[in-house]
Amino acid sequence: MMKLKLSALSVAAVMLSLSGAAYAQGGSLADFHKSMGGCDTCHTKPLKVSDSETHENAQCQNCHGGYEDLANDKLEFDPHTSHLGDINCTSCHRAHDAPKMYCNECHSFDNVEMPFADTKAKPAWDAEWDQEAIAKAIKAGPKETTQVVIVGAGSAGYNAAIAAKRAGADVILLEKAPFTGGNSMLAAGGFNAVGTPQQAKKGIDDSIDSFVEDAMKGGRYQNDKALVQIMAEESADGVKWLESLGANMDDLKRSGGAKVERTHRPTGGYSVGPHIIDTLRAAAEREGIDVRLNSRVEKLVLNDDQAIVGVVVHGKHSGHKMIGADAVVLATGGYGMNKEMVAYYRPTFKDMTSSNNVTATGDGIRLAKEIGASMTDIDWVQAHPTIGKDSRILISETVRGVGAIMVNVHGERFINELTTRDRASDAILKQDEQYAWLVFDEQLIEKKQMVRGYEHLGMLSKANTIEDLAKITGMESLAKTAEDYNRYQAAGKDEAFGRSDMPLNLSQPPYYAVKVAPGIHHTMGGVAVDTNSNVLNLQSWPIQGLYAAGEVTGGGHGYNRLGGNAIADTVVFGRRAGEHAAEYATKK
Ligand code: FUM
Repeated sequence: MMKLKLSALSVAAVMLSLSGAAYAQGGSLADFHKSMGGCDTCHTKPLKVSDSETHENAQCQNCHGGYEDLANDKLEFDPHTSHLGDINCTSCHRAHDAPKMYCNECHSFDNVEMPFADTKAKPAWDAEWDQEAIAKAIKAGPKETTQVVIVGAGSAGYNAAIAAKRAGADVILLEKAPFTGGNSMLAAGGFNAVGTPQQAKKGIDDSIDSFVEDAMKGGRYQNDKALVQIMAEESADGVKWLESLGANMDDLKRSGGAKVERTHRPTGGYSVGPHIIDTLRAAAEREGIDVRLNSRVEKLVLNDDQAIVGVVVHGKHSGHKMIGADAVVLATGGYGMNKEMVAYYRPTFKDMTSSNNVTATGDGIRLAKEIGASMTDIDWVQAHPTIGKDSRILISETVRGVGAIMVNVHGERFINELTTRDRASDAILKQDEQYAWLVFDEQLIEKKQMVRGYEHLGMLSKANTIEDLAKITGMESLAKTAEDYNRYQAAGKDEAFGRSDMPLNLSQPPYYAVKVAPGIHHTMGGVAVDTNSNVLNLQSWPIQGLYAAGEVTGGGHGYNRLGGNAIADTVVFGRRAGEHAAEYATKK
């Protein structure tokens, strides 16, 4: 894990901004607040804490202000401006149990202490499922009812919820974590779409057929073509929909395996995930959607006709209960953070790092399997070639897409940087020491804000000349490689590896390098669905009332997903799943 460089001053300032001026007394955050004014400083009387801890969070903000008030640009690192976005204070600052510093799941902030924190605490929602409590809740019957329950509040879940609500259904969106966003929140790349005004403005010649062909070829023609066709056909409308909800998708870039620039992202080259998730959070609030945090679904409930009649949810404060529902949409994401599942389905990847959020533990797959759903491509796991070495931080494909070269420990290029992820990862694992470097210059930093984040985290080696960069990184052939590459770039022909798109040369100091290695990024397989996002049973018949969208599903990406197709998947099929679930539920 990389170390974050923090000065003593900045640590002290983080402490102050986190907690107010005098936090360091008492055994817990609760004790401390109690000593300042009693339990009702935080809680209502009589005591009743909702699973989402809504009142308690409003109380935090009453005293300390909101995210914008707490954010401090002068700090080297400020958790309040992180990619978690505007989330509950109690996601991290828990009161009676050990607070959790989620940052440490990917970064290693050993020298940042959160007040009253056990920074390695295991989240409550990661505990084993209590089968006895589940059975009891089913026996007791529904404690409340709705038309559509959505499980998981990442991009697919939010899109499904908004679409279902707009289609006229009552919706409850359940999220097991204390924050929403799931894996989507960490998405760096963008949204692949064809036929958008953004493409037209840049004069990009693209077509639905070309999108489909790229996705099929990237997936080694193992994809379900009907799903790919829908993803392509509805992609431009998906971009428009996000824009109508408030997103900016005006920056275009090319991802690995794509013939043209079709990956849409926010202007300035910011990471797409946090932006989309913040947009969806705000849209869901405007739509009045009932979003519940700390609420893990632990059972799908069927009637005697094998149709969905609800779920059992385990609320952090409310315990186990059944919610009756006519339709359920699974949007729980993949299993890239579930070590046992990776070891079982893809044993050769079992010791790999993962770029995934802590929430990606395959819950939806488990829930669906338990009721006899069919799985497809379940053992296909994607290793992304450029995870920061010895970290869990993704170095986005965008960095290569907009111009970086990739070299081995000797400073030699070894593959077309824009090939598909499976091939790039395989190639890195065949190099000496099984890691690589991405090398670029200041031109790229100016184009892509996200790269500043890597610099901020201390991941970049930097020098004023290529020769000096070669010296500090030990890449003896780097200068020669850069000279050759600049010649190919000027001529518009990559004589070494046939890279067709070389937007930048290496000419503007300072020069940068970041060490990368393959890590688990996406689980292509999952629940089998039809084109209406209806989950299929073992006989390939739709399970009445059960829908799924996003990474929990299999089929759309084949053996290898292309960069930019995950967000396309979550938006296009999230919407479809929500609409079909609403239609089914409202007809009932
Ligand atoms: O490398 C990336 O930016 C990842 C994008 C994606 O997985 O779609």
